[in-house]
Amino acid sequence: QAELPEGYTLRALRPEDYDLGFLDCLRVLTTVGDISKEKFDERYQWLAKQDGTYFILVIEDTNTNPPRIVGTGALIVERKFIHDLGKVGHIEDIAVAKDQQGKKLGLRIIQALDFIAKETGCYKTILDCSDHNEGFYVKCGFKRAGLEMAHYH
Ligand code: ACO
Repeated sequence: QAELPEGYTLRALRPEDYDLGFLDCLRVLTTVGDISKEKFDERYQWLAKQDGTYFILVIEDTNTNPPRIVGTGALIVERKFIHDLGKVGHIEDIAVAKDQQGKKLGLRIIQALDFIAKETGCYKTILDCSDHNEGFYVKCGFKRAGLEMAHYH
């Protein structure tokens, strides 16, 4: 199993991560927008209240001063009626800072999120990705299943 490099830690997102580059880390994935600390805290508190549903992990590089968030990923636990009130884990918003890619940080994030999904009783973990990222998720133990469709608003 992959180990984290020296001085890197994998942990849950904290409000202070706003100042450690959490949003910049997400910017390698897509548009983030100009989010104030107040708005960030508001969203953070809302998510925290949805007990056992949102798990947002980060990798912090403590080798730098100040430390920096270099990777992140989220797991959302969906509660169903089908499959005897089954739960499904949804992996979302995986991002590793450009200069930190290729160090197995993405793999570690996926492994940790999948572990949480299993521990919270999810019978499967699913995600959507581009063809470009298929190889990464295959290395993480996932396989192609189905087809994503979207209706943008
Ligand atoms: N295609 C094929 N293989 C890949 C790819 C890829 N795009 N990216 C990584 N791999 C391989 C690596 O070579 C490595 O293989 P190895 O074990 O044989 O050495 C293995 O997958 C693990 O790679 P990591 O080093 O853990 O990958 P990294 O930390 O660079 O993270 C990630 C990969 C998250 C895709 C990163 O490149 C990134 O942040 N990209 C931009 C944002 C993005 O596309 N995020 C995913 C969106 S999908 C979603 O969020 C559900």
